[in-house]
Amino acid sequence: MNLLGKRILLIVSGGIAAYKALELVRLLRGAGCGVTCVLSRAAGHFVTPLSLQALSESRVYTDLFSLTDESEMGHIQLSRAADLLVVAPASADLLARMATGLADDLAATVLLATDKPVLVAPAMNVRMWQHPATVANMATLAARGVQVVGPDEGAMACNEFGPGRLAEPPAILAAITALLAPAPGPLAGKHALVTSGPTHEPIDPVRYIANRSSGRQGNAIAAALAALGARVTLVRGPVTVPDPAGVTVVRVETAQQMLDACLDALPADIAVCAAAVADWRVASAASGKIKKSPGAPPPMLDLVPNPDILALLSAPRPDRPRLVVGFAAETDALDENAAAKRLRKGCDWIVANDVSPATGIMGGEDNTVHLVTAAGIEDWPRLPKTEVAQRLAARIAATLA
Ligand code: C5P
Repeated sequence: MNLLGKRILLIVSGGIAAYKALELVRLLRGAGCGVTCVLSRAAGHFVTPLSLQALSESRVYTDLFSLTDESEMGHIQLSRAADLLVVAPASADLLARMATGLADDLAATVLLATDKPVLVAPAMNVRMWQHPATVANMATLAARGVQVVGPDEGAMACNEFGPGRLAEPPAILAAITALLAPAPGPLAGKHALVTSGPTHEPIDPVRYIANRSSGRQGNAIAAALAALGARVTLVRGPVTVPDPAGVTVVRVETAQQMLDACLDALPADIAVCAAAVADWRVASAASGKIKKSPGAPPPMLDLVPNPDILALLSAPRPDRPRLVVGFAAETDALDENAAAKRLRKGCDWIVANDVSPATGIMGGEDNTVHLVTAAGIEDWPRLPKTEVAQRLAARIAATLA
């Protein structure tokens, strides 16, 4: 596990535990990391920029409106010039500002502007940690992919006892190592191709054919495969869910673009086609907006089938991925349709899910799936999509082992 040369942007917020940030900087420097520190508005009351600067051997940033800082390194650049942003200690106030998307000091602004992974190490009074506002803020941040280390439980500076103590610097260093230099997982050295989200098939420059896919399941599968060490290429249609960290994302709009991106990404050991690809596209999309004319009948759309990406990836070819997994969203006769689809598409496994409106599953957070393989059909319980993804990734790893 090697952090040599990794760049950490350490954001220190106000709190009695801020003194431990000094020890964290020392550990990170010892591990070979470059460390740049940003102090929140309140942090300067607890730890001095001079101490952080001496230990990090690097300029410390505190002021959002500093002309000197902006001319040397603008706050946007600062937020992106690191491999990881670490907030330690993360006060209740800064976590709330992160959850709300405020940008009212330099610390909050770089956290809002960054495109890099973020690790927070909360530290606060136990009542503040357990307050419903903080609980909700932490849930919001976790849903956005923010990683958390701690807090620990124990005696606090305010003479109370409970969870809220900043994780010890060695534990924060271990969490940083797990994110930036993880131990090789069972899929290390394997390349996984994942498709996710809907496709948009243009009718004219402003209208398109689409479906209700959120991209949550496919993105979660990409993240789960990456967590097991795979190099992941995620080819995803237009979605609003965040891209998972640590995977190569190729953004596409149409089925044809998705197919091209998939073929470009080959060779791959694993392909998981979780995208809800539109079955048809308009034969030739209009170059200008189709106008309504009073009294005229609505336009007829001449549809042609889209390429079947799953079937093409499954077909025998020299670079066919060893394991190809498709999805089958069905509203009835789930198992029979899924088993027939596995044979028809030529893929190895089908993850079948019931998307009849009564399940409320399409676009939601949970999924109830059946895994259809050559050996038979397994029923999995209703699970959050992240857990479906982890189970599937573990099965893939076991099969390729
Ligand atoms: O045929 P159907 O759309 O039900 O098949 C679903 C499976 O096929 C999914 O895995 C989906 O990603 C894949 N598919 C595809 N390209 C298409 C249509 C579906 O890859 N054009």
